[in-house]
Amino acid sequence: MHSFSLLLAGAFAVQPILALPGSVTHVSDISKRSVDTFLASESPIALANLLCNIGSAGACASGAGSGLVMASPSKTSPDYFYTWTRDSALTFKCIVDTFINSYSATLQVEIENYIIAQAKLQTVSNPSGSFSDGSGLGEPKFNADGTAFTGSWGRPQRDGPALRATALIAYSRWLIANGYTSTASSLVWPVIQNDLSYVTQYWSQTGYDLWEEVGGGYSFFTVAAQHRALVEGAALATQLGKTCSNCLTQAPQVLCLLQNFWNSGGYVVSNTNSGRTGKDANSILGSIHTFDPSAACDASTFQPCSDRALANHKSVVDSFRSIYTINSGIAAGVAVAVGRYAEDSYYGGNPWYLNTLAAAELLYDALIQWNNIGSITITSVSLAFWKDLYSSAAVGTYASSTSTYTTLYNAVKTYADGFVTNAATYTPSAGNLSEQYSRSTGAPLSAADLTWSYAALLTVAARRAGVVPASWGESGGNSVPSTCSTSTVSGTYSTASVSTFPANQTPVTGVVTTTASGSTGTATTTTGTSSATSTASSCTLATSVAVTFDEIVTTTYGQTIKIVGSDSILGSWNTGSGTSLSASGYTSSNHLWAGTISFPAGEVIQYKYINVASDGTVTWEADPNHTYTVPATCATAVTVSNTWQ
Ligand SMILES: *[C@@H]1O[C@H](CO)[C@@H](O)[C@H](O)[C@H]1NC(C)=O
Ligand SMILES: *[C@@H]1O[C@H](CO)[C@@H](O)[C@H](O)[C@H]1NC(C)=O
Repeated sequence: MHSFSLLLAGAFAVQPILALPGSVTHVSDISKRSVDTFLASESPIALANLLCNIGSAGACASGAGSGLVMASPSKTSPDYFYTWTRDSALTFKCIVDTFINSYSATLQVEIENYIIAQAKLQTVSNPSGSFSDGSGLGEPKFNADGTAFTGSWGRPQRDGPALRATALIAYSRWLIANGYTSTASSLVWPVIQNDLSYVTQYWSQTGYDLWEEVGGGYSFFTVAAQHRALVEGAALATQLGKTCSNCLTQAPQVLCLLQNFWNSGGYVVSNTNSGRTGKDANSILGSIHTFDPSAACDASTFQPCSDRALANHKSVVDSFRSIYTINSGIAAGVAVAVGRYAEDSYYGGNPWYLNTLAAAELLYDALIQWNNIGSITITSVSLAFWKDLYSSAAVGTYASSTSTYTTLYNAVKTYADGFVTNAATYTPSAGNLSEQYSRSTGAPLSAADLTWSYAALLTVAARRAGVVPASWGESGGNSVPSTCSTSTVSGTYSTASVSTFPANQTPVTGVVTTTASGSTGTATTTTGTSSATSTASSCTLATSVAVTFDEIVTTTYGQTIKIVGSDSILGSWNTGSGTSLSASGYTSSNHLWAGTISFPAGEVIQYKYINVASDGTVTWEADPNHTYTVPATCATAVTVSNTWQ
């Protein structure tokens, strides 16, 4: 995002002055912060600061229209006080996923305001075009009040409608799952339908990339986002009794185009018209925003655990190793700060928080996929990635029961954590995240409090905790046609008029989340007063939730398993104040210790199990700490399953 205007008075690609920050907060002694501790403290800051940038309620977005996301509160050097369709959609995908995982009436209002605002924005004529033929939907940014921005800019940008459709589809599916199908159908679908029409009509035309610099080309991130939107758009249409036949015909062709970005050198060339190597965080962002937790390690969609995504991760990350002073002396296979692309000179060309965090997120996504699949496969394409982490790595498939799997899995986890640690090291102690951090000192640079930086922090924290977004149907949409074509279709566009949402659309189904460190735990939820039905009905939100902890652990006579953790209910990490679990369910074939503790709904807890011997000797579980968000839904009881680590 947000390179300075590219088309100033006819001159091209004027680089902004190497603006240096006025005052620099020097980062000290945070480098040893553990990832757990950093994410636990940073996540609530990120959510609060992200919401602060959304109009009209956000205090940092004074003057912005309702439901409009400001890219940053910064109005000068640089001026980011505009609403970008891409940034807003990525922000709201994050908000919707957060909401789905843990119901929040506040977030629901934000989501509803966003939908109302987008329905209006779609119709605003602008320099990219108008609504009647859909061309105006490709406009990258609007003024804070929702009027057209008429200055020079890199336009059109064709990722925005696809990303917005994806965010709204996620919310629609929640509505359907909770019995509010008519809301999805009558209020949200019309907005989605326009965006899907745009993608089907314009995907084969070139445009600007997500960094707003490369025009007249195709861009990997854009094409990946378009493919995903069409696949899930077609599925949603079916669920709602609508049709998107153009989604079905165009999606395979978009996937065809996506294959062209793969370079025989073993990486993604992110743009077709850039005059650069093409190694660009664009491609890593493309993989994480099309991550499907149910997918196999498919190379055609560049799934995070695919050999292509891993090989590309290495190529992109390595391209920053030698050019940033703050990366110097860091060995291959150890995390470094990640920027946009090596040739970047915007603000001097620096690491971006959202890119360093994306490098971590791709690896956490891959861990989740391997865990689901039950094996790791190394191919000749991904071998170099693996050799950096484990010098004896060899081509083959390693089942999760093997020690090689464990070695590989843990090496990726450590590598991923390193990227988060890197971002944490250069995060000021107040937790504010700007756009960039200096390549030479690590001090924050460019726009302060970048909304997308905060969204990136929230998504990486969720993936690390094993919390995943819903599948988008990758497995049904990953087959590349034998012949590709770029013939397109005409979309249809009609004004989506939505000005208000029905009240009290609270959850009727419990949430099902995955939890615990290393993504190895699972949690199931029991619904409270009602179960899923196809008719709208509300239920009572639980204020307190009885959480049953099931821990599989082998013990001998005289030993007791206890749980200790962050909350005072969990003894505030004091081993003497932990809660003992019961072995009443322990059998020779099922080494189960269990106990139930009540927590306030929505509370985030960290914990570990300890084994206390009869003489009082305490043995702790290995790191990391388990993290669990107590659901804030109608569920009054949940079960969390862990295995001794
Ligand atoms: C941190 O972010 C908050 C919310 O955006 C803002 O109000 C505050 O001024 C920022 N603090 C610093 C030190 O930048
Ligand atoms: C687990 O939490 C405790 C208490 O906050 C903390 O001291 C410890 O560093 C954490 N462990 C890890 C691996 O972060």
